[in-house]
Amino acid sequence: MVKYGVVGVGYFGADLARIMKEQEDAAVTMVYDPENGETIAEELGCVAAKSLDELVSSAEVDVVIVATPNYLHKEPVIKAARNGKHVFCEKPIALNYKDCVEMVDTCKENKVTFMAGHIMNFFNGVHHAKQLINNGVIGDVLYCHSARNGWEDVQDTISWKKIKEKSGGHLYHHIHELDCVQFIMGGMPDRVTMTGGNVAHNGEKFGNEDDMMFINMEFPNNRFAVLEWGSAFRWGEHYVLIQGTKGAIKLDMYYCGGTLKVDGREEKFLIHETQEEDDDRTRIYTSTEMDGAIQYGKPGKRTPMWLNSIMRKEMKYLNDIMHGMEPSDEFADLLTGVAAKAAIATADACTLSRNENRKVELKEIIG
Ligand SMILES: NC(=O)c1ccc[n+]([C@@H]2O[C@H](COP(=O)([O-])OP(=O)(O)OC[C@H]3O[C@@H](n4cnc5c(N)ncnc54)[C@H](O)[C@@H]3O)[C@@H](O)[C@H]2O)c1
Repeated sequence: MVKYGVVGVGYFGADLARIMKEQEDAAVTMVYDPENGETIAEELGCVAAKSLDELVSSAEVDVVIVATPNYLHKEPVIKAARNGKHVFCEKPIALNYKDCVEMVDTCKENKVTFMAGHIMNFFNGVHHAKQLINNGVIGDVLYCHSARNGWEDVQDTISWKKIKEKSGGHLYHHIHELDCVQFIMGGMPDRVTMTGGNVAHNGEKFGNEDDMMFINMEFPNNRFAVLEWGSAFRWGEHYVLIQGTKGAIKLDMYYCGGTLKVDGREEKFLIHETQEEDDDRTRIYTSTEMDGAIQYGKPGKRTPMWLNSIMRKEMKYLNDIMHGMEPSDEFADLLTGVAAKAAIATADACTLSRNENRKVELKEIIG
């Protein structure tokens, strides 16, 4: 039996805990959350720790799952590692490269596992795309284009997810596509350029994040990617498009479905586990007030069907690793700190590019 403690049981952490509790030979023994800890502990039948220190030092916890707001990941990760606990940390791992390195290194020094919660890698469609690419079906990948756009209206309250200093803004908070493109391209770009700004969400009713951002990535061997995010787009889109020398793949998360295009012929595949899950995601994206691509949860809200399903795959994978399974090549970078550091390094390079209005070499960030 592996015993899990969950730090931060709001929208995402509570469902991670519910899901982990159902895994074989897994128990959720403790949660810590100053606001929602008692409620979730009662529901799960576990202990509500009074402090972070109580949870990370408990003999009843082997692994700490960190699902606090983005700017509060570092302390629980470092304290868990120093107490000899394995760590699973939600994305974005940190809001700057230095913190990310410190978190990964502290886990290494204390000989505990660190798993990055880059959940998009568990999509059926992403796995299928990687297989098609590895099998040479679309030839050499030349270019990736991702978009994660929608329109945000005034909300009842301003979430921490809309405050740059707390969430990192769309670039860090929605780091999924950046991570996915880097997995497809085989690593970080040599240099990046980012432009953007807060074009339609200024004022006291909104947070302070940029609502339009455009990233240009230059990879070795003449390969490129363009990524865009934002909440100032009336025409919502959410996809990753992969262009190769022989064919192309589109992972569409909006009108949810995958397409392989070779020699003018199109072949469809699922993004999630079932057609029902793909259809449910399309329904949510096309029927809610705020485009699904930029929608965000809050404590008490439950994750939708498609997301709950991949959270199950991700938590099963973590639990299997904790029971001694060797990581497969496909997911190895999630367990070595490589994917975590690569994503945050590129995000930091983009931030520097926008702040200094110039191209930034990745080596300026990673040394
Ligand atoms: N992988 C995904 O697809 C996905 C989806 C949603 C959220 N997330 C990530 O999960 C994390 C949590 O997001 P959320 O949507 O659950 O946010 P949320 O606001 O719903 O929940 C955050 C919870 O953390 C608690 N908290 C605040 N400070 C704390 C502290 N110091 N110690 C312990 N708990 C504290 C809050 O009380 C709240 O219950 C974020 O890092 C977010 O990026 C990932």
